[in-house]
Parts: sequence; C-alpha cells; structure tokens
Amino acid sequence: MSKKGLYTKTFGCQMNVYDSQRMGDVLKPLGFADTESPDGAELILINTCHIREKAAEKLFSELGRYRQIKEARERDGERTLIAVAGCVAQAEGEEILRRAPFVDIVVGPQTYHRLPEMVSRLGTDRAPQVDLDFAPEAKFDQLPANEANGPTAFLSIQEGCDKFCTFCVVPYTRGAEYSRPLADVIAEARGLALGGVREVTLLGQNVNAYHGDADGRSANFAELIRRVADIDGIERIRYTTSHPIDMDDDLIAVHGELAQLMPFLHLPVQSGSDSMLARMNRHHKIDLYRGIVDKLLRARPDLKLSTDFIVGFPGETDAEFQATLSFAREMGFVQAYCFKYSARPGTPAAILPGQLSEAIKSERLAALQQVLETNQLVFNESCVDRVMPILFDRPGRKPGQMIGRSPYMQPVHAMVPDHAFGDILDVRIVSARTISLGGELAVPILGSNPSVTHRGANV
Ligand code: 5AD
Ligand code: SF4
Repeated sequence: MSKKGLYTKTFGCQMNVYDSQRMGDVLKPLGFADTESPDGAELILINTCHIREKAAEKLFSELGRYRQIKEARERDGERTLIAVAGCVAQAEGEEILRRAPFVDIVVGPQTYHRLPEMVSRLGTDRAPQVDLDFAPEAKFDQLPANEANGPTAFLSIQEGCDKFCTFCVVPYTRGAEYSRPLADVIAEARGLALGGVREVTLLGQNVNAYHGDADGRSANFAELIRRVADIDGIERIRYTTSHPIDMDDDLIAVHGELAQLMPFLHLPVQSGSDSMLARMNRHHKIDLYRGIVDKLLRARPDLKLSTDFIVGFPGETDAEFQATLSFAREMGFVQAYCFKYSARPGTPAAILPGQLSEAIKSERLAALQQVLETNQLVFNESCVDRVMPILFDRPGRKPGQMIGRSPYMQPVHAMVPDHAFGDILDVRIVSARTISLGGELAVPILGSNPSVTHRGANV
C-alpha cells in the first residue's frame, strides 16, 4: 500500500501531544504516515486546545491556510481531507462546519478512535463527518497498542475533571473524571518498556485523582505508580498534572520510596492568595499547599517544584497579586507556566464582575515571570559542578551534540556519541542558563563500545 501523508498540527498541552500520537496510530492501518509539511498531505489534522486565548480564532486562521492547500490539490485532481480534533472541536461542534464548510471531519477528544471509519466513509460519501460523543472507556478499549517511539513516552491513565475551577473549560470539553483500569495501564506500560521506553510520564487532567478499577476494587494513584515502578526497564516515572487536594499521604510516601519517581513535581497552585483561590473554586488554601510541600520535602528532600499561575483573574486586587509574587518567591518554584486570565465562554468566571484590562494582565505577567526566571536561573546555577543522570533523547544542533533531560526536566546539552541515544549517562554540569544546562560526560565513552556506558547514578 502506498503511504498517504498525514500532517498533524497540535496545540496545547501534553494530553494533546499524546492524543495526536494516538490519532496517528489509529490511522496507520489505513496507510497514513506522518509528514513534516501540509503541502501534499492527504490528511491534515488539527488537534486543538480550548484552555486559553482565542482558541477558535487561531483555528480558523490555521484553517484558512489549509483551505488553500486543499483547493490547490483539488485543481490537480488530488484530495486532501481536513480534520479538526480536540477541545475546540468539542466546544464549537457544527459551528466549525458552518464557518469552514471545507472541513471534512470534526472529532472530539473522546471519539478519535473512530477516525478510520470517518475517513473511510468520506471515500464514498462526501458529507462531513462529525463525532462528539463522550465515551472514554470505549476509546481506550479500541485504541491500538501505544507503541514505543524512543526512550520516553506518555501514557494516559485518566481523563476529564470534576473540579470545576471557575476559569476552566476542561470539565465541559473533556467531560467527567474517568480512570482507566489498573491492568490496562500496566499492560500498556509493559509494552512500552519492551519497546525500549525507559521514562514514562503518566498523564491526565487530574492524574493524582486516579481511582482505576482493579478486579472490582479501586486502586489509587500511589498503587499505580508502585506497580509501574515494578516493571523491568522503567527507570524513570513522572506524572502530570495534579491537583493539591488529591496529594494524599500515600502518594507523598511514594515520593520517598521510589528512586524511579523523579524528584520533580508539577503541582499547579494558580494563585498565592486565599481569597483568589476561593473565587477560583480551587478547594484549597495556601496553607494546605505549604503543608503538602513540607511533607513532600520530608519524604524526598531533593524534590523541586513546578507550577501554574494565572494572573489577572476577575477582581484580582493589587494585594492579591502581591501575595502571588511573594508565594512564588517563598516556594522557589524552579519552573512555572504563567498565564494571563482568558475568559472562556460558558465558565462561571467569564461573567464575574471586575474583568481586568490587557494592560494590567500583561504588567502582572511580566512581574511574575521575572520572579520565576530568577528562581529558575538560581536553581540552574546551583547545578553547576554537580553530576546528574541525563537521559539523552534528542540530537543537538551541533554535530556530535545530544540533548537530554535531567531528573528536573532541564534540557542538558553535551557531546555524546550517537550510539548512546536513549542511554542515561552521568553528566557533570559545566554551564547554566535560564532554560538549559551544558554538561560533559562524567565517564567518557570510548569509541563505539557501549559497555563502558555508565547508567543511572543518583543525583
Ligand atoms: N485562562 C488562563 N489560564 C488558564 N488555565 C486554565 N484555564 C485558563 C484560563 N481560562 C491554565 C491553568 C491550568 C493550565 C493548564 O492552564 O493555570 O493549570
Ligand atoms: Fe481545569 Fe481546575 Fe480541572 Fe485543572 S482542576 S482541569 S484547572 S477545572
């Protein structure tokens, strides 16, 4: 079968990156293979994100570009299908076809396992296909195996959210919380390990709320991590993203128990002010977050934190914003994603009084980012002269260079022979910048003899 080009454009979070990979997997049996450019592709797939800022506008401007490609190919007697997937598809539905009638497929995040049927139907029936059901169980049951594609992999264990933070669209686009059965997750992790994956990132909108079926009883997230850590070959485990109220003592204990669980945790706080957290409906106060971090550090003293912040939430006062700035300094987050509040239609916060101007949001964002960049640089500089285990998973820009990840997700550039791709090597850090580190192999690798590769030392 001759290969058909699949061009995928992904917006948004790691869940979307995972979903895009899985959509590629379900389309493979139909002869589709990834291509780097939309020109000449048989299928252009846009996986959208609705969490922030002008998601629909971004989509329609992107679609304008693809329409031209589609029309040019049609003039040459070739066909290009355009599919819109993800949370904007779920939220906008048929509206997408009204504004962009040249779109062939609109598919939500819970139904993309049906893409092959939709594409096949388009072979005979040219009417656009729309599928926006909510059926996460069916999706996971019908997806093909998640194949290893390099030394690191995402593994989706949970989807949806029941927390209803007042700013967030996820509970409406991704639906209610759903956890995959424990045995399914373990089978997928084993398959990945057999395919050479050494680092697995457990994914979900609320991974730490995981409560998957385990032969009729409910397994919690701590149990799932322990089971994944038992799998031969899995040397590193990460998870994202979490909610503070689900950070229970069992999960905190796992951070102290398992060397494979990396000492780096993304734990969104959103704001440093209790009054703001209440208006955001976050179900926790700042002291609860502090208490969790204290316990985590007692269990795993080398743990570092990353977080999410929103600035310019409706009615945010100067004092509330100052509380966020001082909390960012106090916690010393070594990484953070900071967002300007963006009103999402249909969410409670979108109609709150006190919507702030872009100018205030931008000013606050810049001030917060400055604090966080300072934290990040201070931490990165503290890593110089340390030896860290680095998992090399990407070629660098210079010949002979590779890029790997430290336990703290810092990108580390070093001169490493090609055959060490996928290895975890001890690297002495020699230079630090805000977003990356430079290093040298602590134990030089001679020629192409992999037997001298030094693996998995502790930080
Ligand atoms: N505006 C700005 N940021 C948002 N996030 C979610 N919804 C919004 C919104 N309406 C951010 C939160 C969340 C991250 C994934 O996106 O910080 O943790
Ligand atoms: Fe959105 Fe809040 Fe759920 Fe996170 S916990 S997905 S921010 S509603």
